[in-house]
Amino acid sequence: MPLTGELPGVGAISLCPIDDGYPRQTIESPYENWGEMAAAATSFSIDRWCIRLLAGGAGAIDVGYLSAHVVWYGPTFGSRAMNIGISIMAGFRGQGIGALCQQLLAEHLHEQGFVRVEASTDIENLAEQRALAAAGFHLEGTARQAQSRADGVHDLQVWSHIADC
Ligand SMILES: CC(C)(COP(=O)(O)OP(=O)(O)OC[C@H]1O[C@@H](n2cnc3c(N)ncnc32)[C@H](O)[C@@H]1OP(=O)(O)O)[C@@H](O)C(=O)NCCC(=O)NCCS
Repeated sequence: MPLTGELPGVGAISLCPIDDGYPRQTIESPYENWGEMAAAATSFSIDRWCIRLLAGGAGAIDVGYLSAHVVWYGPTFGSRAMNIGISIMAGFRGQGIGALCQQLLAEHLHEQGFVRVEASTDIENLAEQRALAAAGFHLEGTARQAQSRADGVHDLQVWSHIADC
């Protein structure tokens, strides 16, 4: 069942579950230029959604992707969180799509029983920080030297969206 929302002046947004075989397009971003990836970091289960936009007379088109994977903070179900990620195609950024999609996904994951939904983003990624704030996420702090990409190691901001908060 797709998750849906409406962005005035932009169109109807739906999040559709996809599997690993889905032909995802490459989305260029300095924050996702990984370099060589570690097999162990990509072998765990990741849930994915494509972001579809229906606007005007055109049919629905894919404008980006969301992902979510489980993070365990202890060996109990109450210690489970979901960490989410997002990419929007360059021509569709800055219209509120990122904020709406992350809000829709966080609320969906809360309905699935996850109290804590988290997202991390580069301390320089101002667009994602603004999108997360607009989606109802709260900044928790900085994970220092947490992410290695092709251009070096970076500090990340940690944000969370807590059920009923
Ligand atoms: C980050 C991203 C997902 C945000 O999605 P989006 O649809 O552009 O987000 P929104 O339009 O909801 O919000 C973006 C906000 O950032 C602002 N913004 C955009 N570019 C900016 C920049 N360079 N500096 C500061 N603010 C910026 C927009 O004005 C908007 O803020 P506002 O609503 O207060 O005006 C999207 O830009 C993207 O895919 N970027 C490349 C991949 C990426 O960085 N993914 C996240 C990795 S953690």
